[in-house]
Amino acid sequence: MQSERKFHFKSEDKELTVTILEVVDPQYGLFTWPSAVILAQYVWYNRNDLKNKHVIELGSGTALPGVLAALCGANVTLTDGEQYPNCLENCRKTCAINGLKNICTTALTWGSFSKILLELPKFDLILGSDCFYDPKDFDNILATVAFLLDRNPTGEFWTSYQERSADWSIEMLLRKWNLECRHISLTSFGGDDENIAGSDLVNNHSIQMLVITRLGN
Ligand SMILES: C[S@@+](CC[C@H](N)C(=O)[O-])C[C@H]1O[C@@H](n2cnc3c(N)ncnc32)[C@H](O)[C@@H]1O
Repeated sequence: MQSERKFHFKSEDKELTVTILEVVDPQYGLFTWPSAVILAQYVWYNRNDLKNKHVIELGSGTALPGVLAALCGANVTLTDGEQYPNCLENCRKTCAINGLKNICTTALTWGSFSKILLELPKFDLILGSDCFYDPKDFDNILATVAFLLDRNPTGEFWTSYQERSADWSIEMLLRKWNLECRHISLTSFGGDDENIAGSDLVNNHSIQMLVITRLGN
């Protein structure tokens, strides 16, 4: 069963509502995760820098951060794994109900150096919320990110994740892929506000926000 969830972003000078389509389904990418709300809040906080930027979202799922970036004026490509075409179909419908006509959606599996990946243009910004939820995928995610940042070494990967185990770490893998990361304090961008965008999704979840770049950039 399909439903609509609305997120209202507000500041002194601007207000914007994003409508996200969700499906009651056990599949991870058909409902919005708390990390997506945090990453979207970071996108909203940085909205003035996004106009005309080329942005790709990895593991988009219901694509709240990517759709918000597009509504803030970025040229956005939404992606999800090749094995999840229904996520991309859901993204296309979400784009349509938000009046986004020129947004690109494409299958992109982490760690797969497919023709699709090789033919992608260069991006200023990579987004990814709650991609780091299964350690078996961490190396593949960073392989894709490293490839995209090779195309544009000054690009950044903005990613939020939910803390599920104190044992999980990407530090070694960052070194392997010649990447480094900065932890962004939630307080610095309103990520610790109650009911971000009018949503209670984040309540009681411990979420981290990272900016990953090429080592030395
Ligand atoms: C936990 S969900 C997060 C979805 C969305 N970003 C959010 O925060 O609401 C993980 C997403 O990663 C996608 N995914 C899982 N494995 C993948 C893979 N190997 N390559 C690309 N995407 C994948 C899933 O389809 C899903 O959309």
